[in-house]
Amino acid sequence: MQSYLIRKDILNIEAYKPGKPIEEVERELGLKGVVKLASNENPLGPSPKAIKAIQKNLKSLNRYPEGTCSYLKGKLAKALGVKKENLIFGNGSDELIDIILKTIKNPGAEIVTSDTTFVEYKICGEIMGFTVKCVPLRDFTFDLDAIKAAITKNTKVIFIANPNNPTGTYVNAQKVTGFLNDIPKDILVVFDEAYIEFVTEDDFPNLIPLINKKNIAILRTFSKIYGLAGLRIGYMIAQEKFIEYAQRVRQPFNVNSLAQAAAGAALDDKSFVKKTRSCVAKEKKFLYTTFLKFGIWFKKSAANFIFVRMNADTQKVFRKLLEKGVIIREMSQYGLNNYARITVGTRKENLKLIKALEEL
Ligand SMILES: Cc1ncc(COP(=O)(O)O)c(C=O)c1O
Repeated sequence: MQSYLIRKDILNIEAYKPGKPIEEVERELGLKGVVKLASNENPLGPSPKAIKAIQKNLKSLNRYPEGTCSYLKGKLAKALGVKKENLIFGNGSDELIDIILKTIKNPGAEIVTSDTTFVEYKICGEIMGFTVKCVPLRDFTFDLDAIKAAITKNTKVIFIANPNNPTGTYVNAQKVTGFLNDIPKDILVVFDEAYIEFVTEDDFPNLIPLINKKNIAILRTFSKIYGLAGLRIGYMIAQEKFIEYAQRVRQPFNVNSLAQAAAGAALDDKSFVKKTRSCVAKEKKFLYTTFLKFGIWFKKSAANFIFVRMNADTQKVFRKLLEKGVIIREMSQYGLNNYARITVGTRKENLKLIKALEEL
């Protein structure tokens, strides 16, 4: 393929690098029982109610899925206290980033986000021809003042991951309210709340009551607390009018029928959500204590992963841990060569990580 056929916007884009899959590491290194603490997945597996719903729906796979996720939408709208018209579903919340950017007016438009956050905002933005401005974090946290200062008349969208991936930090309700009052009303502010269900901090913002008052969109996912990352389903909550436009650009059957059934059942699986939340809270404390003992610096996290600094090149630590059957995420793609992100696992998984670290 000749590059003269390729859109200029994507010539210099680096493709998204996912965490290494367990099977690939086991095959390549001849290992068994590899532990993956690299993609912020649910360590307890999928919601059991979701598994049952998937089994029940297998026989209908000859049918196209329900295009608008109508049943699931009704159920979720009730659970969130919003209207069905405030919701749209995506093939993972990833797809909704794309859908948002397909909806927003361009060319000549700018996106503002942070330089150390979920990399899809930048990748999707550049693919769609936006100029993406990435401002530094302050103390590993989204710096809303720096974002405000980076706004120009061309800024159309701001992406804020709250809590932030990879640092696990969050911006509190007071800061978010002040920020939303200060910035021009015609900018869409997207709050990516992929990890909100793990948050226990009281001052975390509740943005749903602001949906019709401010120009905001909220992204959430079934990939994390509900354990359905493999099915690919997420959703956006926003003003009716914006959702209506976004519906026009999505693929007609973007969310498959098993994902819809599983997500609906997972919403009812209160005991699984509770169990996951308490496992992550307990294991996060256990890892904090261990890191302190090892002299490993870390940032306290509101999510299900911990951002750590090791007194070594983490690319090397990453490779050595891999040989010992533990996959973590090193941060060299952000230019943070001494940092890594470690997903909170079960006690058994965390002990394997600790043993491997001790051996290093
Ligand atoms: C902040 C953030 N947003 C979105 C996603 C993607 O979620 P989904 O699996 O729903 O596409 C992730 C995944 O790690 C994430 O960390």
